Amino acid sequence: MENEHQSFDPIEYVDAVYPDLPMMGAARARKFEQLIVDYDLKDTLELGFYKGKSSAYIGSILKSLGRGHHTAIDMHYAEPHEPNIEEVMTKLELTDYVTWYYEQQSYLWRLMRFLEKPEDNLFDFCYLDGGHVWDITGFGFMLVDRLLRPGGVIVFDDLDWTIEVGIPEARWPKYPDIDFRDRFMRTKQVKKVFELLAMSDQNYECEIWNDDWGIARKKENS
Ligand SMILES: C[S@@+](CC[C@H](N)C(=O)[O-])C[C@H]1O[C@@H](n2cnc3c(N)ncnc32)[C@H](O)[C@@H]1O
Repeated sequence: MENEHQSFDPIEYVDAVYPDLPMMGAARARKFEQLIVDYDLKDTLELGFYKGKSSAYIGSILKSLGRGHHTAIDMHYAEPHEPNIEEVMTKLELTDYVTWYYEQQSYLWRLMRFLEKPEDNLFDFCYLDGGHVWDITGFGFMLVDRLLRPGGVIVFDDLDWTIEVGIPEARWPKYPDIDFRDRFMRTKQVKKVFELLAMSDQNYECEIWNDDWGIARKKENS
């Protein structure tokens, strides 16, 4: 049985079936694989799955190891994507390893439900890749921290992302204070969360990987 789990490369498998599916690529998936194997991570969480590419990598890695489960959360407007996560997971035969939720308001509300029953909703890993503003990412981190086991890992994507570069056509409110509006557009808001909330937290050991991933590991004795 063990051989069956190790007989395929989980990342090459996803790439062979979906060579062009955005957004994550194989190099970052290899980093996930390293973290999952090195730290023996089993119950994984993802905030922002889009079409399910990174979820596919994580689910495939868990399947290759024969353990764990991936929980992925996005907005209701991710459902009409072609393909959407359901189609991707079905085609890759990963539905036993991945559960996904479409939210009306935010992943923050799903995390509220998880916190209502934390005994059923603890995680060893979180890929935080959605809602890249201070309020959402910051509160997301605080909530995930409550659900993360000691030794667990949080990966913050897009440390260098700004609204100005990422979505210049911004659907954001036009703030009357121009100085604030500029700050809002130009601040690296995920990086602010990583620096001000994760790096300053004595329960976490943090590193920056590949320039734009912030990796925060909760200490075993925290
Ligand atoms: C960069 S994409 C995720 C890409 C995916 N992780 C991958 O690598 O294939 C960001 C996703 O976050 C979702 N998102 C943004 N804000 C969100 C929120 N507050 N709650 C849930 N999902 C959110 C968006 O709908 C989008 O699909």
